[in-house]
Amino acid sequence: MCGIVGAIAQRNITPILLEGLRRLEYRGYDSAGVAVLTDDEHNNADGILRVRAVGKVIELENALEATPAAGHLGIAHTRWATHGKPAERNAHPHISGSLAVVHNGIIENHGPLRKKLIGLGYEFVSETDTEVVAHLIAHYYAESQDLLGAFRTALSELHGAYALALIHQDEPHQLYCARMGSPLVIGEGSEEHYIASDPLALLQVTDRFRYLEEGDHARLNNNTCEIWDRDNKSVNRELKRYEHAAFSMEKGEYRHYMLKEIYEQPQAIRDTLSGIVADDHVLTAVLGPDAEERLGDIENIHIVACGTSYHAGLVARYWIEGQAGMPCTVEVASEYRYRTVVVPKNTLLITISQSGETADTLAALRFAKDQGYLATLAICNVAGSSLVREADWRLLTHAGPEIGVASTKAFTTQLVALLWLTTALAQVRGKNADVIANNVKALKQLPEIIEQALTLDTRITTLAERFASKDHALFLGRGTHYPIAMEGALKLKEISYIHAEAYAAGELKHGPLALVDENMPVVSVAPGDSLLEKLKSNLEEVRARGGQLITFACETIDQSEESNHEIISLPWVEDCISPILYTIPLQLLSYHVALVKGTDVDKPRNLAKSVTVE
Ligand code: AGP
Repeated sequence: MCGIVGAIAQRNITPILLEGLRRLEYRGYDSAGVAVLTDDEHNNADGILRVRAVGKVIELENALEATPAAGHLGIAHTRWATHGKPAERNAHPHISGSLAVVHNGIIENHGPLRKKLIGLGYEFVSETDTEVVAHLIAHYYAESQDLLGAFRTALSELHGAYALALIHQDEPHQLYCARMGSPLVIGEGSEEHYIASDPLALLQVTDRFRYLEEGDHARLNNNTCEIWDRDNKSVNRELKRYEHAAFSMEKGEYRHYMLKEIYEQPQAIRDTLSGIVADDHVLTAVLGPDAEERLGDIENIHIVACGTSYHAGLVARYWIEGQAGMPCTVEVASEYRYRTVVVPKNTLLITISQSGETADTLAALRFAKDQGYLATLAICNVAGSSLVREADWRLLTHAGPEIGVASTKAFTTQLVALLWLTTALAQVRGKNADVIANNVKALKQLPEIIEQALTLDTRITTLAERFASKDHALFLGRGTHYPIAMEGALKLKEISYIHAEAYAAGELKHGPLALVDENMPVVSVAPGDSLLEKLKSNLEEVRARGGQLITFACETIDQSEESNHEIISLPWVEDCISPILYTIPLQLLSYHVALVKGTDVDKPRNLAKSVTVE
C-alpha cells in the first residue's frame, strides 16, 4: 500500500514522478504529493517545493497546474491511509527543515519516537508515523552534518516496515532510499536514476532495475548508484531487465483495466504455459535442473496465501490430493504466521501471490524458514518480487502487469500454474500417464475455451442490470467449484459493494438457507461433473423458497429454465480445467454489476492492490 517514486536526472523530473504516480495509483489513492528540489533554471529559487492534494493523482496534477514545481531531483507518493485520515496535512512528502521524505509501510515504534522528538523541540503537523522519520533524520543531521550517517542512525531506530526516499536541500545531487519489509526498486536510465515501489511505475523511462534487498539503503546521483546492506557493507545488486514488457500498461480500447485484464486471460495463460508443457507431459526443468529429484522427495504440501491467491490454493488442494495423492493443507497467511504449525517430514511450503509483496504472505514465508520444511516454493506473477527472491524455488505466472485492484488474470494463471504443479507431482510419482496427458491437453485447450466464455459478456450485461439492485447475494459450488464460488463472492463484494457470501452447496441447509427469499439472488456454479446431481438438489431447496437462481452450467446438462431460475451455459470441458473456465463468467458478472452501480471498478473504496502492511 502506498506508492513511492523518486528521480534524479539532468532534465526536469516532475513529469516522470507524475507518470510514476499514475501507474502506482493502484497501491493507494486517498491523497498524493510531490517534493521537488527546485533550482534557478526551473523555478527562480532554490529549495524544496512541496505540493500535495487529497484524492487521486488527478487532484495533484490540478494542484501542480496552480503551483508548478520543476527540478532535477524529487520524490512523490500516493497514499493509502494507515495513520491519520486522508487529509492534506497527512499526505506525503513530509518535511523537516530542509529535508523531505516519503514512506511506504508502518513504523511500529512511532509513538515513543514521537515523544522523544517532541521532547527535543520538534513540532508535529500530521498524525502520520512518517513525520517521525523526517524529524529523526533531521535531528541526527543537525548533530553531525552527515546526511548518510544521519539516515543510517535514524533507520537503525525504526521498528516495522518501510520503503523510504529522502532528499535534502544541502545535497542537491543525491537521492537516498532504503527498504525493510516494503518493496523498492532502483531504475537505471542514461545518466538518470529512479526509484519506485514497483518497476511498473518506471517502465515509461527504463526497463533496467536493481532490486533492493531487506535492510538495504542506497544513495543515487545521475551516474552512480551506491548500495549498502543492513550492516552498512557496500553491496552490488544485479541489474536486471524487466520481463513483462509484452503486455501493455495502457487501458487501450477498454473502459477499465479490470475488463482489459479479463480479456487478456487467454494470452496470459498461453504465456504461463509456454515452455513448460510438452505433448503429453509437463517439463519440470523450469523448477531447476534437479527438479525431478526435488519433486520426488515431497510427501506433503502446505499452501499459504491471501485473498484471491488463497482461493487458488483451495482449488489446488482438490487437485493435489485427488491427482497426485499427496496430503495438502491451505491456510490464509495472516493466521498461519501466528500459530504453531506442525510440519510433517518432507513437506513443501507453497506461497501464492500476484504481487509477491503481500506483507502477510511474505511474513509467512519467513516464518516457515524455521519450521523444518523440505523447501519453499513461490508461485508469483512478479519475477523480481521479495517473495520470489526469498523462496527456494519459484514458478512464475506470466499474466503481465495486473493494475485493477480486483485480481482476475493473476488468479486464472495461478490456477494454471497449480494444475501444472499437480501434474508434475503426479508425473514424478508415476501416476496414471493418461491423467497426465489429459491435464496437458486440457491446459493447452484452455485459452481457446476462455475466448468462447468471453462471448457471454453481452448476456451477463443484461443479467447484471437486474442484479445491481440487490443488497446481498449467495454463491454456491461444490468440489473445486466451491473455491470458485468464494472467488465470485469476493469479486462482487470488492467492486460492487454488494454483500456476498459463498457456501459449499451442501452446507446451505445447515443455516444459510434461512436467508433465502425472493430478494436473495443465489448464484451457483454447476459444471457437468460427478457432483452435479447433488448440486441440483441443493438448488431445488433454494427454488422452493422463492430464491432467485442464476446458474452457470455446462451446456450438456438439462437446460429447462423455470420462472425464477436463469441458466447460462458454458462449453463442456475436462473436469481439471473446469474451475478455471467457470471463473470467467463470475468475473464478468461482478464487473458489469459494478458498472451499473457506478462504483470505481479499478480502484474500489478502502482497498489497494498490493497489501504491503499487516
Ligand atoms: C483480489 O481481488 C484482492 N484484491 C486481494 O484479495 C488479493 O488477492 C490479496 O490481497 C493477495 O494479493 P497477492 O496475490 O498480491 O498476494
